[in-house]
Amino acid sequence: MTYKKRTHTCGALRKDDIGKTVTLTGWVDRRRDLGGVIFIDLRDRYGKTQVVFGPQHNEDVYQLAKDLRSEYVISVTGKVERRPEGTDNPNIATGEIDILSNELTILNKADTPPFPIEERVEANEDLRLKYRYLDLRREPMQKNLLTRHRMYQITRKYFDENNFIEVETPVLMKSTPEGARDYLVPSRVHPGKFYALPQSPQTYKQILMVSGFDRYFQVVKCFRDEDLRADRQPEFTQIDVEMSFADETDVQTVTEGLIKRVFSEILGIQVEPPFQRLSYKDALEVYGSDKPDLRFELKFSNYNEIVAQAGFKVFSETIAKGGVVAGFTVPGGASYTRNQMDNLVDFTKSLGAGGLVYMKVTEAGAESAIEKFVGKDVILKITEKSQAKPGDLILIVSGEWQKAYTILGTLRLEMAKRLNLIDESKYNLLWVVDFPMFEYSEEEKRYVAMHHPFTSPKPEDVHVLDSDPSKARARAYDLVLNGNEIAGGSIRIHTPELQSKVFRLLGIGPEEARAKFGFMLDAFRYGAPPHGGIAFGFDRIAMLLTGSKSIRDVIAFPKTSSGMSLMDECPSEVDRKQLDELHIRLK
Ligand code: AMO
Repeated sequence: MTYKKRTHTCGALRKDDIGKTVTLTGWVDRRRDLGGVIFIDLRDRYGKTQVVFGPQHNEDVYQLAKDLRSEYVISVTGKVERRPEGTDNPNIATGEIDILSNELTILNKADTPPFPIEERVEANEDLRLKYRYLDLRREPMQKNLLTRHRMYQITRKYFDENNFIEVETPVLMKSTPEGARDYLVPSRVHPGKFYALPQSPQTYKQILMVSGFDRYFQVVKCFRDEDLRADRQPEFTQIDVEMSFADETDVQTVTEGLIKRVFSEILGIQVEPPFQRLSYKDALEVYGSDKPDLRFELKFSNYNEIVAQAGFKVFSETIAKGGVVAGFTVPGGASYTRNQMDNLVDFTKSLGAGGLVYMKVTEAGAESAIEKFVGKDVILKITEKSQAKPGDLILIVSGEWQKAYTILGTLRLEMAKRLNLIDESKYNLLWVVDFPMFEYSEEEKRYVAMHHPFTSPKPEDVHVLDSDPSKARARAYDLVLNGNEIAGGSIRIHTPELQSKVFRLLGIGPEEARAKFGFMLDAFRYGAPPHGGIAFGFDRIAMLLTGSKSIRDVIAFPKTSSGMSLMDECPSEVDRKQLDELHIRLK
């Protein structure tokens, strides 16, 4: 089919172009037939332009324009003219002009789309994902992918300017567990053997340090077979970074530099490094989360000293067992009704708490059901420590350290949402540092690495590795934006001795270590420099910068929460022959 190529995009024409003869190509966004004159909005990724067809102008073209429907692909030629007075559209950049068309080619027809291609979409997400090509025509999705594109460019430029080199690492690799479950790929040539898709290029980037590429980065896909959430995808993108002869501050400074630039170039907002640092312990004890949202206060107080000897058994027994009694003040919360309080108690219990103790503060002091056990004095001390004023509400949870603070952290977020305390226009960045090396996994009945098995302990904590590993802190750091973990990294172990020891503490014996990580232990014997790095969650950052509610909205072809791609219907069954070749028999 011959047709005229465009002279301009649908977002380009302005008043200055009036009188020019132009050709535009694109999709019919909307058609209005006013009887005697037909208007269409023609759309491409640059914008929309109004095109007018009239019989007095060109009868054949007018007749053809009657056939136009939404999403037809066309080429139109005509003269740019000033819109009649009073018909300007200030909402679009081309709103002062239209095109009087005297040539029209229909390049392709279109079925009626299952949902209209509009900014706001009523269709449910499954339908949008099934017809992703249509969903991606919508302006917000186009903007999101454009922001993503700019993030790639800024990232590559930044790291290149700072002497980092981009190296691609394999997608088919050895299964080396890093915390999540691997996606496996069976080998046809080696029956019974499997590749794994990388959970991250962690081992490769460390080996690149051994090879002397002292500053590496990569924009890279990672694959993790884990339960999905709004901020998690089974395949996601990282900006992966590693540096030799670097300590925590070096890695953090490079990270802050990129974040500063991305914020400035994408949002026009200046953020000033160094970002705030908060230890893991403080993050939990003050905000109840290792990724606290600091756009609002609601800080916790610990009441252990006040209530340890008071006559309320739930509290005193918890403290005797090494637990905590802590809580926070909800400004204005005393006005909560009985019903609202019951609801809050149920919510807290649903998080695993034994209960929720609360105090309503009035001019006459605080009222609480536990007063009869602990007495007025204790209630007064709690009120003072919580800095609660008349009209406020104090919420208190008791329990094992981690559990009690985590429940309080969820409650803190919930109250902030209910009370509308979160200023959505704010961006809060902070580093959480000094993570423990290990956490105890109830499921596996052993210690697991809190970051990953290659993370170095703090030099001053190496001596407790033998006596009480749970006390050892790691040289690990997470970057948090508005309560979301957007990057995480660590300084690594670089000697085979310490690496073997940490494997051992993780329950990975010498044989298993050799089988799974022998190549790394070997590499470390040939001169491994001290090194460390970080990886950014690219999709999460794109989600936060575009104000999207889900990372699916910044990924062109994402999976659903059950790991399905609805457009191409995968995962899918495969031919028997393919399975035979791979030596696989289905149960
Ligand atoms: P980590 O596992 O913390 O570190 O991952 C780094 C960052 O990647 C993002 N992220 C995800 N984003 C979307 N979907 C997921 N399923 C998902 N999982 C993680 C998070 C996270 O902060 N190799 C180490 C990095 C290092 O030590 O250098 C690693 O992968 O934003």
